Amino acid sequence: MPVQQPPPQEYARVVLIIILLFFLYTSPDQGAPAGFQSPHDYAAERIDRFRHALDVLNRTKWQDFSPQTADKSRFEAARYLNLTGFREADDYAWERVDAFKKRSQEFTEEATRNNGAVSDVYQNVTGIVQGKWARNTADLNGDPRPRTLNLTETSPVIDWAFRDVEYWTRNITGTEGKMMLRLEESDTGGVDVYPDTPKDPKLPIDSKNVAREIAATLTIQDESSTGDGWDMRVHGVHWPKQGVMLLTTTSEKFSGIFGLPHLTLNLEQFMSSQRLLNKTLEREVESLEKSIWIDLSNPWSSSPDSPGDATMPVPHCEYVVYVQVYPMDLSTTSLKAQLDPPSVINAIEQELRFPNGAPIPVAPSLKMSTVIFSPDCGFMLESKGPPSFVPADGTHLNGKKHEMFLHDIQKWLHAFAFVVLGQILLLKVQSKEASTPSTVGRVSLYTIAMMLMADALLFSSLSLLSATAPNLFPSALLTSFSALMSVALGVRFISAVYSVQEPERREALRAQLAAEAASRPASRPAPTPGTAPAVAPIITAAGVETTPQSAATPAPARPAEEPIIIPSDQDLDAEIAERMTAATAVPLLPTTNRPATTQPPRSTSSFGAAYIKFVLTLTFLLFLSLSAISWSVPFRTGYVHILSFTYFSFWLPQIRRNVIRNCRKGLLWKFIVGQSVLRLLPFAYFYLKEDNILFAETDWKAFCVLAGWVWIQILVLVGQEILGPRWALPKSWYEEGWDYHPILSEDNVESGGLPIGLVRAPGSPTIERVRTSEDMGSKSKKEGNTRSVDCAICMQLLEVPVVPAGVSTSGAAGSVVEMLARRQYMVTPCKHIFHSACLEGWMRFRLQCPICREALPPL
Ligand SMILES: *[C@@H]1O[C@H](CO)[C@@H](O)[C@H](O)[C@H]1NC(C)=O
Ligand SMILES: *[C@@H]1O[C@H](CO)[C@@H](O)[C@H](O)[C@H]1NC(C)=O
Ligand SMILES: *[C@@H]1O[C@H](CO)[C@@H](O)[C@H](O)[C@H]1NC(C)=O
Ligand SMILES: *[C@@H]1O[C@H](CO)[C@@H](O)[C@H](O)[C@H]1NC(C)=O
Ligand SMILES: *[C@@H]1O[C@H](CO)[C@@H](O)[C@H](O)[C@H]1NC(C)=O
Ligand SMILES: *[C@@H]1O[C@H](CO)[C@@H](O)[C@H](O)[C@H]1NC(C)=O
Ligand SMILES: [Zn+2]
Ligand SMILES: [Zn+2]
Repeated sequence: MPVQQPPPQEYARVVLIIILLFFLYTSPDQGAPAGFQSPHDYAAERIDRFRHALDVLNRTKWQDFSPQTADKSRFEAARYLNLTGFREADDYAWERVDAFKKRSQEFTEEATRNNGAVSDVYQNVTGIVQGKWARNTADLNGDPRPRTLNLTETSPVIDWAFRDVEYWTRNITGTEGKMMLRLEESDTGGVDVYPDTPKDPKLPIDSKNVAREIAATLTIQDESSTGDGWDMRVHGVHWPKQGVMLLTTTSEKFSGIFGLPHLTLNLEQFMSSQRLLNKTLEREVESLEKSIWIDLSNPWSSSPDSPGDATMPVPHCEYVVYVQVYPMDLSTTSLKAQLDPPSVINAIEQELRFPNGAPIPVAPSLKMSTVIFSPDCGFMLESKGPPSFVPADGTHLNGKKHEMFLHDIQKWLHAFAFVVLGQILLLKVQSKEASTPSTVGRVSLYTIAMMLMADALLFSSLSLLSATAPNLFPSALLTSFSALMSVALGVRFISAVYSVQEPERREALRAQLAAEAASRPASRPAPTPGTAPAVAPIITAAGVETTPQSAATPAPARPAEEPIIIPSDQDLDAEIAERMTAATAVPLLPTTNRPATTQPPRSTSSFGAAYIKFVLTLTFLLFLSLSAISWSVPFRTGYVHILSFTYFSFWLPQIRRNVIRNCRKGLLWKFIVGQSVLRLLPFAYFYLKEDNILFAETDWKAFCVLAGWVWIQILVLVGQEILGPRWALPKSWYEEGWDYHPILSEDNVESGGLPIGLVRAPGSPTIERVRTSEDMGSKSKKEGNTRSVDCAICMQLLEVPVVPAGVSTSGAAGSVVEMLARRQYMVTPCKHIFHSACLEGWMRFRLQCPICREALPPL
């Protein structure tokens, strides 16, 4: 019986699932709490209101809505509509509507005055424009009239989330900011503006004077708004011929779309918009009635995220948006001579939408100006630009047609794919170069991990993009695939680095433990000849290597041209790795002194742990970045700056590792310079390019800081290469490592300081080189401060400067020439001397002295 009962954790899980289900069922979208009307009743009531509003739209005439304004004489009767928001009792700021219309008219005149014929406008304005806005208070004498907005009176049956006027959302309080308008024009057909005039049947359908429905998403950014600003959806009418659009928000306290014809500038616009809206709104309301049990969404909702307009709506400011499209400058195009403007525009639009290689001029960008009026909150905004503002302050709204924008994104995504490809190639070269344990040991894990993290972030955001934007699917997929390749290669490289550096980490841990356990005698793994493993001969591509263990005998049979034996297959690497692990990891306790067979599982499991840490960090960063989207602008900018600065510190761990390991040749110069440039390129694009695809604001100062920071790190790396890894660091900061380039002085002869071969004592176990006469000549010339010895690796002559006895060595240490001269030779702790190039090449494969097989400290 107890077997069938789930263990306690199972109960917890079940409870958790029940709680989750409970939350899902009671989430606000799913229904009103008890005591409120059901969503269905609510929708039915709303449709009744729509019907009434539609009736008003059908019945009203031009100038039926002429509210009381300052200009109007007292005897002229003000007329209002029986529509929510258009009534006198609503007390909206309609006294400014005439100023709004006047300003709109001015913007239209300005756009068409010196910019060519009004017919030279794009007929399909689907696209994105952005620019700056400024508050317009020209028509106000002093403060705006105090108004009492009473939501209970305006919309009696609605349960508002709150009623206090101060907390209404979308209330723009600043004097200027940025805005963006995303226009979407569907192909639903329109109505004729002049239905009664006879038509020329030969004209193409596009040049007919029609009015069409249009919707747009307006984003207005202000100090008071969070993230990118207030997002709102506006619906309205587009007169393509004139390039004019009028859009409004619609909500329970403002029947915007139903009263829209009364906000137009002239009778023609009134007539055509009334006919269009009468037709389309009727259709819309009918379909709402049909689907009342299925679909409760509000087609004119102004909240882009929740089209349902919840049963408890949040009151927000309403907007009326007038947009004038600027005619494009066709004077430079050669086609102008052959075709009349409508055909040129038609050709451009056709080619953009259905590309088939037609010879069209370069498509001009989209430019618009706008006036925005909020009837309830009583403010008026306009796009910043001439003539009210100098062009430096703003040039109204600029942007691109949808197709051009898509094309741009695709182009840049491809460019990014190439950048990532370059990174992959560099990483490949680097991981090929660092393919032996001693070279891998110099690479900083964190430098590579930081790059990997950035690539993984790029990959996840691009996969998100390719999943959500079907139009960008191929390009985003290409780029995210190359990012994935980069991640895969990086993970492989990192796991190699990690497993090679594993003994080192364990040793550090063990040293720490040993220091703690003071009672036990410290058994530091000192590299003495006794502990150096005497193993079987190394089988290499060049044959079986049987070097004797004698310290002084150079291998005589090695060919001079081919001193370094390049491993020809992976097995050798594996063998070396194994030997390395065995040689460096001297265990503390004899019981743990197992052969290398126990190593792989341990290292893989700990790499797994590190990998999980990496993935967790990545997830955390992703979530933080996602939530950062909704932060207010200064916070978000700060976050982006901090994140990019941290990212571009990726050479710091390598510098630190160079210092700790006292090695210089961690990474290839190709890799360092290439990665720095390639990784800066996308940032350069977003920080410097004016109309970049993310609409990010340019900030060349921040970019200079980033690039400068990378440059400084590269300079430090160069300094480490030339002056030694620990230049400019006080000696007390680190424990002195082995100096491969010591100053050789005859003073040390007594203490055994000079390398074997340079000591000219008669009894030394040196093989005196039989010198040719030429050698003798050159030697005698520099007698006193240069000595010659054979390099055991290449069998060539090695000349080393030696400071004569009695001369102080401290003076010579300073000169750069002397220092570079010292870079020519390397002295091992076992007092063997070689060419630097020869020993460095050797040490890429083995950290053992080629002569006596004693362990060598890493470079
Ligand atoms: C619109 O008004 C006309 C009369 O002006 C009327 O015949 C028609 O039924 C009305 N249509 C709607 C949908 O209310
Ligand atoms: C306005 O419309 C409502 C119906 O929604 C109606 O009850 C009211 O009488 C109308 N007011 C006027 C002045 O026509
Ligand atoms: C709003 O109108 C309702 C009904 O007319 C009234 O009871 C309420 O006091 C008004 N609220 C304010 C703040 O004027
Ligand atoms: C305008 O262009 C968009 C994007 O190509 C297209 O989806 C839409 O149907 C076009 N609208 C009209 C009225 O041609
Ligand atoms: C609105 O549409 C109805 C038919 O749905 C039509 O009878 C009426 O005349 C239209 N009104 C206007 C002002 O176009
Ligand atoms: C909007 O902001 C203004 C200025 O801060 C404030 O006076 C007003 O009450 C707010 N709300 C509305 C609905 O205007
Ligand atoms: Zn050599
Ligand atoms: Zn040696």
